[in-house]
Amino acid sequence: MRMRVGVIGGGQLARMMIPAAIDLGIDLRVLAENEGMAAELAAKSVGDYRNVDEVLRFCSEVDVVTFDHEHVPQEVLRALVDTGVAVHPGPDALLYAQDKLLMRAKLTELGLPTPEWAAVEDAAGLGAFLDEHGGAAVVKTARGGYDGKGVRVVRAAHEADDWFAALAEDANGGALLAEELVDFRRELAQSVARRPSGQVVAWPVVESIQRDGVCAEVIAPAPNPAGRLSDVAAEVATTIAEGLGVTGVLAVELFETTDERILVNELAMRPHNSGHWSIEGSTTSQFEQHLRAVLDLPLGPTGIVAPWAVMVNVLGGPASGTMADRYAGVFEDYPMAKVHNYGKEPRPGRKIGHVTVIGDDLDTVTYDARAAAAQFSD
Ligand SMILES: Nc1ncnc2c1ncn2[C@@H]1O[C@H](COP(=O)(O)OP(=O)(O)OP(=O)(O)O)[C@@H](O)[C@H]1O
Ligand SMILES: [Mg+2]
Repeated sequence: MRMRVGVIGGGQLARMMIPAAIDLGIDLRVLAENEGMAAELAAKSVGDYRNVDEVLRFCSEVDVVTFDHEHVPQEVLRALVDTGVAVHPGPDALLYAQDKLLMRAKLTELGLPTPEWAAVEDAAGLGAFLDEHGGAAVVKTARGGYDGKGVRVVRAAHEADDWFAALAEDANGGALLAEELVDFRRELAQSVARRPSGQVVAWPVVESIQRDGVCAEVIAPAPNPAGRLSDVAAEVATTIAEGLGVTGVLAVELFETTDERILVNELAMRPHNSGHWSIEGSTTSQFEQHLRAVLDLPLGPTGIVAPWAVMVNVLGGPASGTMADRYAGVFEDYPMAKVHNYGKEPRPGRKIGHVTVIGDDLDTVTYDARAAAAQFSD
C-alpha cells in the first residue's frame, strides 16, 4: 500500500501530524503558505492554496489529500477530486465547515440541537432578531472566522453595520448569522473520527475554556457529566459525521446550557485544539487517528490512559527570546509537563505551543499544567 499523504496548510496541526506519520512510515508532505511555518519539518512545498494549478501540482505526487485548515476554496477542492486523488474530508463535507450559515441550516435539517438562529441581511433583519431574542444576539460572519474573529455580541441593530457594509461590497453578497446569546454553563468539545468506509469512533467529551474567543484550556474528560451527557455528545457528533459525510477527524464545539441541554456551536473537520490532550492522554492521538482515517485504515482505541488530562495553550509566549529558553526552568519544576513548541515566533495572543499533564488528581494536574504553561509567557 502506498501511503503518501499531502496536507494543505503548514500550521501546527500539520506539524503535529508529523510524529504520527514518522511512526507509521507514512510519507507526509505539506503545502505551506509561506517559508518558516510550523510544519516545515515535513517534506515541504510552498504555494497558494487558492491557486488551482499550484494545488494540483502539489497533489499530483500524493495518494490522499487532507487539511490543516478549512479555507481551500470549493473550486480548488472540486478540481482536485476531478483528478482522481482521494480528498478527505471531501468538498461536500467541508462546505459545512467553511460556511456557518450552511452549517446551521444543515444541522437544523438533521434535527440536531443548535442555538436559535437566522440569516440576517441588514440592520432591519438584525433588529427583528434582537426583538425576538430578548435584545441580545451573537452575530457571526458566515465565512473566514477563527479564534473569535468574526464573532460579536450585539445589543443594538446598528452594531454590525460595518459587516453589512463589507457584505454589500462583496460580489458574492450573502448574509450574517444571528444567534441567540446562549446562557451556557460551560463549553464542551466532542471529537470523533470517521473512515471513508464508514467506521466511526468517539473520544471522551472534553471541557474547553475560552478566553477572549480563544481556546485557553481543555480538561479531558469533561468533569461531572450530568446524566447521559457523554453519550449524547458522542451521538450528536456521530450523527454529524455520518450526515455530512465527514472523513478524518471531526471536532464538534458544544454548549452545555444552564438547563442541561447540549447545543452545537460549530464544526472543525480536522484535528482540533480541543483534542491536543489525546497526544499523551489517549491510546490513539487525534493526529494518528486522522492519518488512519484519511487512509481508510481501521481506527484505534480512543480511551483516556489516565483519569485526567489537562491541556493549557501557550498564548503569546515570552516577551523576549523563545519558548526553548525556558525549558531548563520548566523541566526542573514540572518534569511531568509534556511541552509542545510549534516553532512559531512569539507574538501577543498567538498560539505558539501547549502543555499537557496527565494524572490521577484533577486539581494537581490542572495546577501543574497551568503553572508550566505560565512559565512560557511573561
Ligand atoms: N450563540 C452564542 N452564545 C454565546 N456565546 C457564543 C455563541 N457563539 C459563540 N460564542 C462564544 O464565542 C466563541 C467563538 O465562537 P465560534 O466558535 O463560533 O467562533 P470561531 O472564531 O469560529 O471559533 P474558533 O476560535 O473555534 O475558530 C465561542 O467559543 C463562545 O465562547
Ligand atoms: Mg469556535
